[in-house]
Amino acid sequence: MSKTNIILGIESSCDDTAAAVIREGKLLANIVANQHIHKAYGGVVPELASRAHQQNIIPVVDQAIKLAGIRKEEISAIAFTRGPGLMGSLLVGTSFSKAFAMGLNIPLIEVNHMQGHVLAHFIDTPEDAPKHPSFPFLCLTVSGGHTQIVVVKDFFDMQVIGETIDDAAGEAFDKAAKIMGLPYPGGPLIDKHARNGNPKAFKFTKPQIPELNFSFSGLKTGFMNFINNGSAKDPGFVEKHRDDICASIQFTIISILMDKLKKASQQTGIRQIAIAGGVSANSGLRETLMQLQKELDWEVFIPKFEYCTDNAAMIAITGYYKFLKQDFASQETIPLARYELR
Ligand code: KG4
Ligand code: ZN
Repeated sequence: MSKTNIILGIESSCDDTAAAVIREGKLLANIVANQHIHKAYGGVVPELASRAHQQNIIPVVDQAIKLAGIRKEEISAIAFTRGPGLMGSLLVGTSFSKAFAMGLNIPLIEVNHMQGHVLAHFIDTPEDAPKHPSFPFLCLTVSGGHTQIVVVKDFFDMQVIGETIDDAAGEAFDKAAKIMGLPYPGGPLIDKHARNGNPKAFKFTKPQIPELNFSFSGLKTGFMNFINNGSAKDPGFVEKHRDDICASIQFTIISILMDKLKKASQQTGIRQIAIAGGVSANSGLRETLMQLQKELDWEVFIPKFEYCTDNAAMIAITGYYKFLKQDFASQETIPLARYELR
């Protein structure tokens, strides 16, 4: 094995095909191919996603290797997302990684996608090494598929202390956007309109869920009734009030998240607070956390935008830390649509 370790990371759990290269813990290349085909369907179509991954995976990996300025023979190990995710999508990345590792005669490393989102906080580039959270810290992982509060005790010792019992926070954004007639994925569009709106213009009922768990399905139903009633009285209702509606629903989702995050910090006594996952790209959420940092004496960690939504840099950095422990996976490893975080 060569002295410098080079990890190729592969991510294909949902609708982004991604590859990244990390050398000695520093990110050299991070390529993501988004699948725009799902826009027309208002959500990710699993069959189309797996076909698109199949088309994208080789060009994406090729581009990452070229951008990193390495030869494929220099790669030390391949880290891939084993789950959770869509089975057809995971199969493409898993099968590709197995075949490539076998061809190069190098080890395979399996990565839990949710662990990857958390460890995105440890991505450094040759030019930039931001301050990392130290252990233990709390991570609010909010994506299209998950909403979790995690106590991160170490790179590989994570405990989920709260999670959604139904929809994820990203789903709440996307479904609200769909109800308003905005295209998929609606989260970033709600964020955009919310910037010009009044977050207190409309009030939505927050769920009463015990402990540190979340629920967003009631909010979705309430929001749908609100839009239907408004549109029944005035067909131009959504158009006239779009910015205020977006700001108000975004404010409600953020405040549901923050209520539980504050409670988790109080209960655990942990004040280092990190966010991860696609919804952590939300500007309202980022601003709210910066305010709470001052008010509650938290130390807040917010990832760069490109490490929030699905990417392979987070898979490669997790792979890097597993590589240091020589924690390898066998060729028999199969993808897992459901994969609990431990
Ligand atoms: O982590 P991610 O890329 O994929 C999953 O693992 O699910 O998260 C995607 C989710 C989508 O629901 C998308 O609408 C949401 O993240 N999202 C946002 C923003 N950017 C992405 N939600 C709100 N505001 C944003 N700026
Ligand atoms: Zn994700």
